[in-house]
Amino acid sequence: MNLVLHSKRLTLTPFDAADVDLAIEMFTDPDVLKFAGGVVEEDEIRREMSNWTKRGGNGCIGIWCISNRSSGEKFGSIALLPMPVEEDDTDFSLVTPGQIPDGDVEIGYFLKRSAWGKGYATEAGRRLLRMAFEESRLTEVVATFEGGNVASRNVLKKIGFADRGLTRCYGEDGPNYRITRDEWSGLQHSA
Ligand SMILES: CC(C)(COP(=O)(O)OP(=O)(O)OC[C@H]1O[C@@H](n2cnc3c(N)ncnc32)[C@H](O)[C@@H]1OP(=O)(O)O)[C@@H](O)C(=O)NCCC(=O)NCCS
Repeated sequence: MNLVLHSKRLTLTPFDAADVDLAIEMFTDPDVLKFAGGVVEEDEIRREMSNWTKRGGNGCIGIWCISNRSSGEKFGSIALLPMPVEEDDTDFSLVTPGQIPDGDVEIGYFLKRSAWGKGYATEAGRRLLRMAFEESRLTEVVATFEGGNVASRNVLKKIGFADRGLTRCYGEDGPNYRITRDEWSGLQHSA
């Protein structure tokens, strides 16, 4: 499977050890982590890189770096990862080569502040869903967000996710947004 994905303005590449500087810039910024657990110490980011570069399935489970297609500037990440249920963070032991995790697979995204408000998360999300439903064995993708995270909710709505009430995730009852492969296919035909 080709894991380097292009859209009009963006390139998505499997997250790599060389993306550590981007990870540090994003995950030490309180604004970026306001609705996602709070900032991470630089030492921990460096330690976590071995998890954040893991891939499952044929590579379709994991994190991608988002960069500008023409300049190459890196400004975000987007992921398909096993959704934690009672745990408060992703269990990377479930991300193993050749295996799609048994439970729900969630989409998640982070952009540097300088890249907000330009439609990049929407564009990257659409591209990743296309890979998920055209090239991987995933039949459904889920998502959740902290209640106040209007930007994240808006991205999900724009890329076709439906509000299914509440679900148990991250050790609490949170928004339950979902899209199935069939729903996604229907959207492509009506576009
Ligand atoms: C969530 C995030 C990735 C959105 O990225 P983005 O590229 O700015 O989003 P988009 O430009 O694609 O915007 C999508 C929609 O949300 C709206 N939106 C964006 N930011 C918004 C905000 N702060 N408040 C309300 N609406 C917002 C946009 O207007 C757009 O809708 P529109 O086209 O109808 O105007 C970005 O804000 C971010 O990195 N936040 C911090 C990390 C985070 O919270 N990640 C999600 C964890 S669940």
